Amino acid sequence: MSELQRPVVRPRRLRSSAAMRELVAETTLRPAQLVLPMFVREGADEPVPIGSMPGVVQHSRDSLRRAAVEATEAGLRGVMLFGVPESKDPEGFGATDPDGILNVAIADVAAEVGDALVVMGDLCLDEFTDHGHCGVLDADGRVDNDATLARYAEMARAQAAAGAAMVGPSGMMDGQVAVIRAALDEAGHTDTGILAYSAKYASAFYGPFREAVDSSLSGDRRTYQQDGRNARESIREVLLDIEEGADVVMVKPALAYLDVLRRVADTAGELGVPTAAYNISGEYSMLEAAAANGWIDREPAILETLTSIRRAGADIILTYWAVEAARLLR
Ligand code: PBG
Repeated sequence: MSELQRPVVRPRRLRSSAAMRELVAETTLRPAQLVLPMFVREGADEPVPIGSMPGVVQHSRDSLRRAAVEATEAGLRGVMLFGVPESKDPEGFGATDPDGILNVAIADVAAEVGDALVVMGDLCLDEFTDHGHCGVLDADGRVDNDATLARYAEMARAQAAAGAAMVGPSGMMDGQVAVIRAALDEAGHTDTGILAYSAKYASAFYGPFREAVDSSLSGDRRTYQQDGRNARESIREVLLDIEEGADVVMVKPALAYLDVLRRVADTAGELGVPTAAYNISGEYSMLEAAAANGWIDREPAILETLTSIRRAGADIILTYWAVEAARLLR
């Protein structure tokens, strides 16, 4: 052992105490960086549990308002709202009806929390269409890009009129950000922002979300959502959305696409545009299921997950754990 070359450089020094680790930590995770997605169900008198997402509910209008106050008190600064309408049709009428569930819920939350929370609406038709696609269909049953854009323009105006501070187009139609920006501006909503789901992949991890919004999609979304084998086209989508007026760009899902997130965050960051990432339903449910079985330690696993998304470059994270994580961080 006397021959042993003793190390001069010792990286372990910087890990030697909790204080030291805190001092040199590169990545921060703050409650204000977390956005809580919430579902609100038309006609519900009380919250309805979502079986595939333990701990997440379809809110009633009343419970949604209370949850928004709770989110504010936990230190969050944003919520993303999804509507679950009582009846659906081919055009998704409920999405643009000022009395539709999502629009009244946006107004409820905006009235309840004022400027304390950035109230955002998911801008997509799939929650509202009976066929479950993100747009309207042509005669051959294909999603009609340009006819859908007209519906999105109307939906953007309805959400802004209801009091949304930002709209979140998530349908992956070509040109959607430009059309929405123009529609908002024309209606005088120049201060309403756009958080664009720019790089959104066709993913098996959306599974639990279908139950969350009672969606009856048959087939898949592969003609409009991106192919998981491609990273470069995310950069193209992001650059287009920024050019069209996106205020924030988003990558979705997060965990299986952390490499894409890194590239997008670098590109958008150079252009001064913040990047968000959506830690989606399947990512939530996988961890919850493993924790319920006692296979992983739930709270550290949640914080490790969110930290990894921040480390990959997200400025903002949409996560169903937002309130709980905010409390753990305090
Ligand atoms: C589209 C939309 C979806 C999600 C958010 N917005 C579903 C989809 O595109 O298939 C998924 C969110 C999640 O899985 O947590 N309205």
